[in-house]
This record gives sequence, structure tokens and C-alpha cells, in this order.
Amino acid sequence: MSVQEAIKRLTAPDIRARKGGEPIVSLTSYHAHTARLVDKYCDVILVGDSLGMVMHGLETTVPVTLEMMILQGHAVMRGSQRALVVIDMPFGSYEASKEQAFMSAARVMKETGCGGIKLEGGRRMADTIHFLVERGVPVMGHIGLTPQSINTIGSFRAQGREEKDWRPIEDDAKAVADAGAFSVVIEAVAEPLARKITKDIDIPTIGIGGSVACDGQILVLEDMLGLSPRVPRFVRRYGELGPSIEAAVAGYAADVRGRVFPGPEHVYPMKTQGKSGGKGRA
Ligand code: KIV
Repeated sequence: MSVQEAIKRLTAPDIRARKGGEPIVSLTSYHAHTARLVDKYCDVILVGDSLGMVMHGLETTVPVTLEMMILQGHAVMRGSQRALVVIDMPFGSYEASKEQAFMSAARVMKETGCGGIKLEGGRRMADTIHFLVERGVPVMGHIGLTPQSINTIGSFRAQGREEKDWRPIEDDAKAVADAGAFSVVIEAVAEPLARKITKDIDIPTIGIGGSVACDGQILVLEDMLGLSPRVPRFVRRYGELGPSIEAAVAGYAADVRGRVFPGPEHVYPMKTQGKSGGKGRA
């Protein structure tokens, strides 16, 4: 049996088929090590353009490039073997035309081997989503709060908190579903609206600040691990890695300054005559 046969990754159609079933578990990852850790538990790993803020300290996702997404996409593909890996299309790589979107998406898929892409926007992106899906690109939509539009929306605030604002968001969800997306992220949308959209459309909704009624959930890994200094209301912190990392670094610094690291077990003694060295990592 070949390796490919032994390990089967989830596919976009597998996720599409989960509508209304067991909740879809999803997290972001940008690195091989974290991808390896989350792969066992997640159905979808998103290489989100949030990497611009999380890894690079940028204020917004706007400056993120296709090259950054491809580089981290490679790392996540190498670190994972089971989850569907979806890579975000960064701002400026897909909005100008359907053709631009296809060329960017095809590059991401060919160069990383990922199983799908995500792009932001509802009705305005419907034709593009249709064009991509028809040409073999599985698309995850993203509606509600769309962080790449920060410069036109002005702030990262929740959407649809007044019923009069529901209609455009519902229309966005329907447009993305009708265009052929295999799922849609609903970000920072009032709970009853996320619930209603989940009931009304026939593709899985993946909530981030949506509702427990969504067909799945996604969080930024570093937010839920307690590594991000500020997190939105919709994040539950499942760990507090920040203080643990700081304590470890402080311990290392103290040991180096006190000359107690490295200890005798961390150094290489001379080979004794007649004995050969061990195998593996030095
Ligand atoms: O970029 C990202 O991490 C995302 C998630 C927040 C859904 O789009």
C-alpha cells in the first residue's frame, strides 16, 4: 500500500457533506510544528492571513502577500497529514477579476498542494467563486466581518446587531452558497443572525464569533492558546502559553548567566578509544 493510500486527507466535498452533522473543528496554523499538533483534532486547518498580525506584528491583514501565504502553506502541508488544509487568499490577489483570482488560487494550490482556498466577500465575490469552483478550485467563503475591508469599514466590529442590518448579510451567505462554495466562515455576526443563516443555507457555516448553532467553529490558534496580547470577545482561551513561555525563557536566561546551563549531560565528551559514537541526531 502506498503512503498516499495509507493516509487520507479530508477533502472539500467531505466537509461540504458535514452540513447539519457532527460539528466541524477548525483552527488556524502557520507552522509545521503547530500543524502537526492540531492535525489530529481538526477537520480543517486554515492558513489564515491573520498570520500577518500574529507572526509579523502587522496592524491589519492588508499588507499580507501571496508569497507569505504560500510559504506558510508549505509548512502546514508538511506538518499535517489528515486535515483539509485551506489557504487564505490575501488582499489584492483575487478581487480585480475572476481571471486574477484563478491565477492566484491555481498558484497557491499547485505550489502548496492544499485542498482549498478561502476568500472574503459575499455577493460581490459570487461570480468569482463560481468561476473558481467550475475550474477545480474548492472555495471557502468568508462573510460578516471581513478584516481585509478594514480601510472601508473603519473598525473591527460585530455585524448584524440590529435586525435592519440582517438582509445584506443573509444575501451574502446565500450568494456564496449558490455560487458553489463548500463552506462559509461567518465572522463576528450577531448570534440569532448566524443561527438563521445556518438554518437557511445548504453549506456548512463555520463560526468565529457566530453561534454555537453554526455547523463548525474556527479560532486563531495563538488566540485560544493565550499567546495573543489582546483577543476579541468571541475567543475562549484554552491555555495560557504566554506566561509559560516567559517563565521558560527567564529560566534559560538565569541558567546561562549563572553558568549552570549547559550541564554535563548536554556536552560532548571525547570519544574513548575503541568505542564508536551513537547514531542519530548529534
Ligand atoms: O485569517 C484568519 O485567521 C481567518 C480566520 C479568523 C477565520 O480568516
